[in-house]
Amino acid sequence: MKIIVTGGAGFIGGNFIHYMLNKYGDYKIVCLDKLTYAGNLSTLKDVLNDPRFAFVKADICDRKAVFELFGKERPDAVVNFAAESHVDRSITDPSLFLNTNILGTATLMDACRNFGVARFHQVSTDEVYGDLPTDRPDLMFTEKTPLSASSPYSASKASADLLVLAYYRTYGLPVTISRCSNNYGPYHFPEKLIPLMIVNALADKSLPVYGTGENIRDWLYVEDHCKAIDLILHKGRTGEIYNVGGHNEMKNIDIVKIILKKLGKPESLIKFVADRKGHDLRYAIDPTKISSELGWTPQTAFSEGIDKTVKWYLENREWWEEIISGEYIEYYKKMYGVKS
Ligand code: NAD
Ligand code: TYD
Repeated sequence: MKIIVTGGAGFIGGNFIHYMLNKYGDYKIVCLDKLTYAGNLSTLKDVLNDPRFAFVKADICDRKAVFELFGKERPDAVVNFAAESHVDRSITDPSLFLNTNILGTATLMDACRNFGVARFHQVSTDEVYGDLPTDRPDLMFTEKTPLSASSPYSASKASADLLVLAYYRTYGLPVTISRCSNNYGPYHFPEKLIPLMIVNALADKSLPVYGTGENIRDWLYVEDHCKAIDLILHKGRTGEIYNVGGHNEMKNIDIVKIILKKLGKPESLIKFVADRKGHDLRYAIDPTKISSELGWTPQTAFSEGIDKTVKWYLENREWWEEIISGEYIEYYKKMYGVKS
């Protein structure tokens, strides 16, 4: 099987490429990535010389480049991770999110139609459902929950999902969609909550917690997400959406305290800062469909996953130190101010 993986130089796509090449000795993977600030070839350095792997630097919005690549490679499947993925950046500048996340997805699907690709898998997010109240633990997102996105990021992902389903119905393109909760693990860019807190704590910098830190996210170890996508790709039904989540709801403030404890750093590093605009209160996934249909369950408990993650950041300083450079420093100053 030959798979084009878009956005494979990013966090989840990079983990997925490693997972698939380890699991399937005879698969070929072609990674298409624009290498934005969030894409790092160092994430793929272990596989760059693997004959089963090829890297192509291109923009998923570049129709000519995408069609040329598809024509040359003739993939059996496409897994689309490529996206602008950070909510805070989407609040500052939505336009890039609309281009990449919506128009880029459409361009990829046009290429799939043109070259008769047997499966287009869209990696989506639970954020398309909006948020849930914190005082109703009985409520969870199912695949039937109406779309109700809160941020430009989640609205762009919801728009892409609608397009994917429209391509299925209108053109019969064989598509699947996974909507996953918050991931954590190796190669996570240090602008997102968990890696940012690890990296700042290691440098004895303050840890910026938005609002009161009571917002809840449902955390899943990234390898469990990769396993879910692998299953959907091979056994999922086309035209279907699968929610992926770990039944692991945690308050932001509790995550931050766990990280500080693991690193032996004081809670005085925590700094409550202005809340995110439109900040979603709570996400929680009901994974009944993927569990009952495809037999997926998360394998990594949070206690184990966070240990592995902290250990990875301690052992792979060169990966994140290289990333914390020019553009990131500018972003950080603008976002959190020089005092942080
Ligand atoms: P990421 O920001 O770490 O990586 C995104 C990758 O896409 C980068 O390598 C970047 O260079 C590439 N990219 C961006 N724009 C591109 C373009 N125009 N053309 C080609 N490549 C481009 O993101 P991530 O956290 O790995 O998320 C991957 C996917 O999973 C996204 O679609 C995101 O919406 C979804 N998702 C993420 C999470 C999470 O917790 N991180 C949860 C659910 C779903
Ligand atoms: P994030 O990792 O950006 O993921 P998402 O917004 O897609 O869920 O943020 C996770 C939670 O952590 C979210 O409630 C916002 C909060 N947060 C902070 O409190 N401080 C920060 O510096 C960041 C980046 C996030």
